[in-house]
Amino acid sequence: SSPSAPSWSRYAAFAHPVLKNTNISTAALLLFSAPLIIISLNILRQIIVPRRATDPPVIFHWLPFVGSAIAYGNDPLGFLFDCQEKYGNVFTFILLGRRVTVALGPKGNNFVFGGKSTVFSAEDAYKHLTTPVFGKGVIYDVPNEVFMEQKRFVKVGLSTDNLRAYVGMIEEEIENAFKNDATYNALHSTNTNGWGSFDVVKAMQEITILTAARTLQGKEVRGGMDKTFADLYRDLDDGFTPLNLMFPNLPLESYRRRDRAHVKMSKFYVNIINKRRSGNDNHEHDMIAALMQQRYRNGRLLNDREVAHLMITLLMAGQHTSSATASWALLHLAARPDIADALYKEQSQVFADRDGTLRPLTYEELRGLPLLDSVIRETLRVHPPIHSVMRYVRDDVPVPATLASPSKDGIYIVPRGNYVLASPAISQVDPTVWKSASEWHRYRWNDQEGVAAQAYKIYTDDNGEKIDYGFGAVSKGTESPYQPFGAGKHRCIGEQFAYLQLGTLISTFIRRMELKTDTVPANDYHTLVTMPKTPRSISYRRRG
Ligand code: HEM
Repeated sequence: SSPSAPSWSRYAAFAHPVLKNTNISTAALLLFSAPLIIISLNILRQIIVPRRATDPPVIFHWLPFVGSAIAYGNDPLGFLFDCQEKYGNVFTFILLGRRVTVALGPKGNNFVFGGKSTVFSAEDAYKHLTTPVFGKGVIYDVPNEVFMEQKRFVKVGLSTDNLRAYVGMIEEEIENAFKNDATYNALHSTNTNGWGSFDVVKAMQEITILTAARTLQGKEVRGGMDKTFADLYRDLDDGFTPLNLMFPNLPLESYRRRDRAHVKMSKFYVNIINKRRSGNDNHEHDMIAALMQQRYRNGRLLNDREVAHLMITLLMAGQHTSSATASWALLHLAARPDIADALYKEQSQVFADRDGTLRPLTYEELRGLPLLDSVIRETLRVHPPIHSVMRYVRDDVPVPATLASPSKDGIYIVPRGNYVLASPAISQVDPTVWKSASEWHRYRWNDQEGVAAQAYKIYTDDNGEKIDYGFGAVSKGTESPYQPFGAGKHRCIGEQFAYLQLGTLISTFIRRMELKTDTVPANDYHTLVTMPKTPRSISYRRRG
């Protein structure tokens, strides 16, 4: 009659040794078999349940939720090429709970990059990754049309006048590193045969941040680049990983450090802005100066927080992309001293004084160096820093039959809630488009009628078709097989700056040193930007 009687008997049952063991083994059995049941159900579902005729084929996967994340994460290009061979240009794979529909080839690039931004949303795909790092009120944290205005503001800071002024600053910054940084000690060796070496990624990351700070970021940022700034930068950067892209908030120390670093970095820039507002220093050539003068269409000036957060964006957006490209370029030149020598000759032809000394680089002359240009283009073709570009699908979207279709009369539909993925990295090394597709062959850019020149023409000219998405007229370029800077509305705004930074950097290194390496390393895909795997040292010595 006591209400506690049943619970007593339950405890008694657990206390009995035989019953206790039975329960433990049942629990263990359940624990052991649950994953097997889940995996089996996942497999059966894929085999038995017929998919809708309009759904693109789904890549077979053993584990629910995880899906194809391991294969894609370890070797995205290998995975996408394999799937393309089996299923064609359009298919869906599971990436940690997301359904990602891939569209490959130039037509696939056009489908994703040329899609309407109200339906293929970049902000829904990226904002949880970027907003904690860049900050509120900018980029993917604001409606798309506001972001397009912000892109226009940044372009003002990248005017030709500014770019012209940057060449000398970058050259000087690199020359100072050659003089003062122990990495380049062998340049001062009295023995001209003395070889030194450096880890190319580490060296290029240092040079890239110094040169961006000196030019775009301005003299206060360059002057404030001490240990504290480096630590803040590192903590922010640690919040910019594939893990952060997949999981917006995890209770991990790296996420907390990212958030603390963002607050401090934002204050750092707001302080600079406040000081400038209260003084009357002349900073005509940097980005902060340009942004502080910009007004939205409704007449409102950018506020301090927006300027600060745009500056953080530019710092982060250009750092890994440019330093990775510079690393790959130097690695290829080190592996091909004949091309490095030809580059040196090109420099001599344009810049040598009567006595043979090379005078400083200029913006206009840099733009007219075909060999240097082709080295950068080819490096970006074989090693585009960003291998996949994603958008969140806000509404069902039919796939054009010219891209892929399930049958003669049918079409595929990408359902809302999926993500779409384009990979110019695939079309840039597609063997059906390019000869010796995955080899670094800078000469392919010589032939004005060749595939490379044609692809570049579509990318930069598109038969004269220019579109203004809200940040100035740009060529659409969405159907080119060559798109290292993306295409369409979200095309990179740092392209000219990156070319100039890379051109100046490569020229300055080639003028001063000979490079040597036995191998060009394979791709490391475990970071957001594709890097050369370690070891990635280059040997160098002073040019004779
Ligand atoms: C966007 C590549 C350097 C600023 C992009 C995109 C690509 C790209 C592929 C398109 C992403 C998408 O569609 O989702 C590169 C490469 C670089 C480089 C290969 C260097 C070699 C820079 C630099 C800056 C910059 C130096 C700034 C000064 C941006 C910004 C966007 C962007 C703000 C966002 C555009 C948007 O979503 O509308 N970049 N980038 N990038 N890039 Fe770059």
